[in-house]
Amino acid sequence: MSPGRIGSMVLRNRIFMSPMGSNLAEPEGYCGQRIASYYAERAKGGAAMVIMGSTGVAWPRGSGNQQQVAVSDDRFIPGLKLVADAVHAHGGKIAMQLQHAGPIAVNEPLQGLPLLVPSVPEDKPFDWPVDLTPQENKDMFEAFFAPGVVISHQEATEDDLEWVIACFASAAIRARTAGMDGVEIHAGHGYLISAFLSPASNRRTDRWGGSLENRARLLVEVIKRVRAAVGPDFPVWFRFDSQEYLLNDGITLQDAIETAKLAQDAGADAVHVSANADKSKGISFSEGHATHFPGHFTANAAAIKAALTIPVICPGRIEPALGERLIAEGKLDFIAMARKLLADPELPNKLGAGRQDLVRPCIYCYTCISQIFLGTHVRCAVNAQTGYESIAPIIPLASQQRRKRVLVVGGGPGGMEAARVAALRGHDVHLHESGGRLGGTVFFSSIVYPENGALITYLARQMEELGVRVHLRSTVTVELARALKPDAIVVATGARRSLIELPGADLPHVFSGDEMREMVTGRYGATLKRKLPLGVRAMIRAGKASGMLESAARIRRLSNYYLPIGKEVVIYGGGLVGVELAEFLAERHRKVTLIEPGPSFGKELMMVRRWRLMDTLRKEKVTLLAGCELLAITPGGVVYRTKNGQEQARKADTVIMAIGAEPSGAALTESLRAVCADVHCIGDAKELGYIDGAIKSGNRLALAL
Ligand SMILES: Cc1cc2nc3c(=O)[nH]c(=O)nc-3n(C[C@H](O)[C@H](O)[C@H](O)COP(=O)(O)O)c2cc1C
Ligand code: SF4
Repeated sequence: MSPGRIGSMVLRNRIFMSPMGSNLAEPEGYCGQRIASYYAERAKGGAAMVIMGSTGVAWPRGSGNQQQVAVSDDRFIPGLKLVADAVHAHGGKIAMQLQHAGPIAVNEPLQGLPLLVPSVPEDKPFDWPVDLTPQENKDMFEAFFAPGVVISHQEATEDDLEWVIACFASAAIRARTAGMDGVEIHAGHGYLISAFLSPASNRRTDRWGGSLENRARLLVEVIKRVRAAVGPDFPVWFRFDSQEYLLNDGITLQDAIETAKLAQDAGADAVHVSANADKSKGISFSEGHATHFPGHFTANAAAIKAALTIPVICPGRIEPALGERLIAEGKLDFIAMARKLLADPELPNKLGAGRQDLVRPCIYCYTCISQIFLGTHVRCAVNAQTGYESIAPIIPLASQQRRKRVLVVGGGPGGMEAARVAALRGHDVHLHESGGRLGGTVFFSSIVYPENGALITYLARQMEELGVRVHLRSTVTVELARALKPDAIVVATGARRSLIELPGADLPHVFSGDEMREMVTGRYGATLKRKLPLGVRAMIRAGKASGMLESAARIRRLSNYYLPIGKEVVIYGGGLVGVELAEFLAERHRKVTLIEPGPSFGKELMMVRRWRLMDTLRKEKVTLLAGCELLAITPGGVVYRTKNGQEQARKADTVIMAIGAEPSGAALTESLRAVCADVHCIGDAKELGYIDGAIKSGNRLALAL
């Protein structure tokens, strides 16, 4: 948390908000209060500097997303000043990321204009649509298939490049005029400058292509011209790809080191080390810049730093402890956090106060970035205020407002979020959970996707911190509710999984979702007891007695050695639960077949995460059968109908029914109306929305109590 410096700019600590296109601009590229509040919140939370998400230097040309902030004309300066002032009011610095999106610009195709590129790209099939739902395909691509829309390319001429360089320089002057503290030139992620840097996309033979020096010329010229425009004291740096993944002929680390040296010589004050990947593949987004791998770019950043004298900024799932160590070892200078600051804008202040236990974790669900693909604005699955800072702030009760006794029924994420926000606002909150632990089904999902577990730990910690009175193993009945005398009741009992009627569904090798959960908790009912052999029951009892089953992480570790699931597994239901379970089992050497009645797998997952998960399932050789209906379960397998109407059989030692979830809260909600008038049903108890939906509905309800 020590101060740092970039050029003439002094930074109060080493944490930056990494640039994120948010789609929070007002129409026509202007900044308004909404985006100003979004950035101000991160400065208030202690980030030393906020780097605004990519802004269009040539907007509406070369724009990277639909609702992008524009900096292509002086008329945008007042809005930008509003943002800069809002960040400065909290003692933070603010920089603008300057971008021309080149080959990935969004407006050109829709307006019948060619995309500006170094070289016309080869026709390469995109795998994105394969794992999108029909609705997502429509939302993302319909406009591009409308009559008259043609995707064409224009190889940039000398005049074009002169115009681009001038656009960057003018944009930098506007940034400075608006009160920004610096500019970051976006030379990464496949956009125009990155496309020139990459041998995979730049096949020119003139002075802008071929040798590394030629490919780096556009970046170098932009830096020089920007530097000349803003003078020696205004901080100017660049973000670029330290490597291009999934491409054979992409940028290598060695290329990146040489490019960085040229950029440093051209006058850059710092380098921001990111990465790119083959954009024709859906996994590129979680492989490249929004990486799924903790600390993914730190080794590259350290190698680049070793060759330079200017400071190095590094993003990419860097945990605070890792960042601190790498800074102390002189391998990095600044950490850029993107998703972590969407999840918790106050992270830097909490770290500064030694309260990491209060940090709300990112669960790497990719809801945030997937919104940008869908053309909506950034939001966060675990932080319902993100993107709504000026619209839905958490405001404590005013002195004339009555403090209510709030009864929350159910300790899953929705219930705990409602309890958290109600308590933060000043209400007296009592949470009753019928099970023996908090977290609801998210506890179980954290066995297969450990990132989810951190959210439960955080919310449970918040219950203690905020004085929410938690009662475990307490089933709320009308009588109990009446005795508690609540002013408001929140029913957050989650989803229920009904058994589907199917020949063979009661066979001993068939497990419902609830039975899988019973197995994991060691609290099994009569039906499951009948199905489990004595040896398995003994193992489960031993696990329970040793406390092993109390921790999702320990269950996960144990499952690598012992898992009472046969070698060949059929999972019926390819939704979120089914796909995550398939990955978990396949990684534990089970031969998995996933049968889904609908057309798409994992539709509840956000697309960027789904692309990764489906890629893993294919690599793990999971058999994926979409549009197929399970007809019967036999002692040795299953019978199903294919989408062409044929009946097929498949061998299975274990069959898992991951299907049939439905809201559980209607009846209890109705009966509790006899207790008080203010009864609400939220989260999956009302409508299936998983973590994202549960958190948002709990949050919004508690704001209104
Ligand atoms: C919603 C979202 C939007 C992003 N937009 C940009 C962008 O405009 N410019 C950019 O350079 N990187 C962008 N990124 C990448 C981030 O700046 C960051 O490098 C990446 O998410 C890895 O850091 P993290 O692990 O802290 O999230 C975006 C990431 C997210 C999640
Ligand atoms: S939406 Fe998901 S990935 Fe994005 S910041 Fe929030 S928790 Fe993290």
